Amino acid sequence: MNNTDLTVDICGIKLKNPVIAASGTFGFGREHSDYVDLNKIGGISVKGLTLNPREGNKPPRVAETPAGMLNSVGLQNPGVRYFIENEIQFLRQFSTAIIANIAGNTIEEYCEMAEILSDADIDAIELNVSCPNVKAGCVAFGNTPEGIADITSQVRKHCRKPLIVKLTPNVTSISDIAAAAEDAGADALSLINTLLGMAIDIEARRPILANNTGGLSGPAVKPVAVRMVYEVYRTVKIPIIGMGGISTGNDAVEFLLAGASAVMVGTACLVYPDACIKVCEGIEQYMKRHGFCRVADITGKLMLNT
Ligand SMILES: Cc1cc2nc3c(=O)[nH]c(=O)nc-3n(C[C@H](O)[C@H](O)[C@H](O)COP(=O)(O)O)c2cc1C
Repeated sequence: MNNTDLTVDICGIKLKNPVIAASGTFGFGREHSDYVDLNKIGGISVKGLTLNPREGNKPPRVAETPAGMLNSVGLQNPGVRYFIENEIQFLRQFSTAIIANIAGNTIEEYCEMAEILSDADIDAIELNVSCPNVKAGCVAFGNTPEGIADITSQVRKHCRKPLIVKLTPNVTSISDIAAAAEDAGADALSLINTLLGMAIDIEARRPILANNTGGLSGPAVKPVAVRMVYEVYRTVKIPIIGMGGISTGNDAVEFLLAGASAVMVGTACLVYPDACIKVCEGIEQYMKRHGFCRVADITGKLMLNT
């Protein structure tokens, strides 16, 4: 008997299943579409968009680490207008939600992008206020409650799509940041972005990344990410999209139990193009094993040890 319903509704974004490709690890879906049926993925958060095209940082800008990777790509992208003119139509051939991930140097840039994208054929905007790899802006907005409240409330005025605010883990109290984003008008939260890290080539006595530091992602960050989702779930009422090191269905279920309503899969997509589909199948198997009919029934169902 197959009575599992994988659909989820995150602040009005209707997903056929709770698995979304994480920004920066799936491009605009084109490359992956040769290997994966994009119709089977709940949604795609596209590579972080900026108002104008960006070349990103100098190479080397990725480095493998034990159970993960560092990246300092630095938001290489063709700009928001190129995305609208050349990429949305391609993605719309598939029945998958399109989430536009945006980043800027100033609040005005974020507001302008939100304005432009509100008239585009996308399903939601994800505010990247948490990228550790660009010098100006971005992470600076996301690492204090005041900063995140300011940018969220201003973008809110220009955003006529569901607004997801993506949180950085590089803070002392993720709950305070999450509460500030919710109060300022976020419809949903996604977390975590990468953890600031560094790797050193000891022979050369130099950092491996040309940018010196970068963002850590992959299985190594999963326990940190699960703990943060757990804390944020206890603080906010808006839906949470959890991510950080998910590569199997069981990984994803940890996030759902901790309080996520959906998940994103990032680094695993770089290793296995079909990672999102495998994660989704794993969630479905878990639901069958445990008699859960709907994904929403798993959210927050963690039983704490006393
Ligand atoms: C190569 C690379 C590029 C990324 N680019 C972006 C980006 O443009 N915007 C963004 O919000 N997050 C970006 N991220 C962060 C991921 O979306 C995700 O938050 C993070 O990697 C944790 O998930 P994971 O461990 O499943 O990869 C990037 C991550 C990687 C590895």
